[in-house]
Amino acid sequence: MAYTYTSWLLLGQLLLLVSNTAAKVPAIIVFGDSSVDAGNNNQLSTVLKSNFKPYGRDFYGGRATGRFCNGRIPPDFISEAFGLKPYVPAYLDPMYTISDFAVGVCFASAGTGYDNATSDVLSVIPLWREVEYYKDYQKKLRAYLGVQKANRIISEALYLISIGTNDFLENYYTLPNRRSQYNVDQYQTFLAGLAENFIKELYSLGARKISLAGLVPMGCLPLERTSNLIGGNGGGCQESYNIVAKSFNGKLSGLVNKLNGELLGVKVVLSNPYDTFQQIVQKPSAFGFEVTAVACCATGMFEMGYMCDQFNPFTCTDANKYVFWDSFHPTEKTNRIISDHMVKHVLNVFM
Ligand SMILES: *[C@@H]1O[C@H](CO)[C@@H](O)[C@H](O)[C@H]1NC(C)=O
Repeated sequence: MAYTYTSWLLLGQLLLLVSNTAAKVPAIIVFGDSSVDAGNNNQLSTVLKSNFKPYGRDFYGGRATGRFCNGRIPPDFISEAFGLKPYVPAYLDPMYTISDFAVGVCFASAGTGYDNATSDVLSVIPLWREVEYYKDYQKKLRAYLGVQKANRIISEALYLISIGTNDFLENYYTLPNRRSQYNVDQYQTFLAGLAENFIKELYSLGARKISLAGLVPMGCLPLERTSNLIGGNGGGCQESYNIVAKSFNGKLSGLVNKLNGELLGVKVVLSNPYDTFQQIVQKPSAFGFEVTAVACCATGMFEMGYMCDQFNPFTCTDANKYVFWDSFHPTEKTNRIISDHMVKHVLNVFM
């Protein structure tokens, strides 16, 4: 009796071991905007770049890679948490080759959106072209590893998608075109439809483990506080933008449920950073921050990209005291807190 029981126990453990090994994520594959761009924009002729100091001053070697941050961004932390490399390189970065990209690759482009009209604003990579680069990557991966190994990576990889903020802030609320066509609720529905098409296309190309990121309370980005200030409404968060972010996250949540029901063998999760981010912004001291209303770089009120340069005398010395690095992007410390939370509470289903 005891012998049989032990055997079953061992068999159970063995099966668990086998299934765990099979479930392991062999690569991180990233699509989206500046929240996750590791430097693809360096190769474009756009004004939206960050491959110069003080960007990257807390990255490995103090290197300005094109990440819109003083250090690492969420895909880097997530890759590390999955036991892969501590950073995910940009597909267009000439420093890396297919042997690096086999365990992690980023197709994201700062300034882009779900909407084609958004990527046009600053001449960056539209989402459909990120997919074209991904198809190109698949070809290279198959040539490098052989079809079978490559296909296993493609289907077992964790796909991170983080995009949407620019559709609202750079496009809808800045330019007249989309506002003349859609009210904000209709625009959200339009974007959610584009997100659905995008994920279905990734699925048809082999993706099975997908994390769709929600939006942060974008009305609390220092740039939006500044425009609130200029608009004569004090320097607080632009609450109307936060309401839109929350509502859009709700639509994405519905989409995730729908896709899990429709697509055989897929696992899609919503990585919603809204609540954690809001807690940080509302009570920065609880997370070890001192400043949240302005960013570290330059005056912290409006600068990003080329306006955040190494000659600005106002740039802070310790970015860890700040929630935001530039007027639109979190510091590495904020990215780490958000990523840790996601790994622990959402992405753990893929571990
Ligand atoms: C975006 O542009 C691409 C390339 O021109 C096109 O194939 C796609 O249909 C466009 N998407 C929408 C929603 O218009």
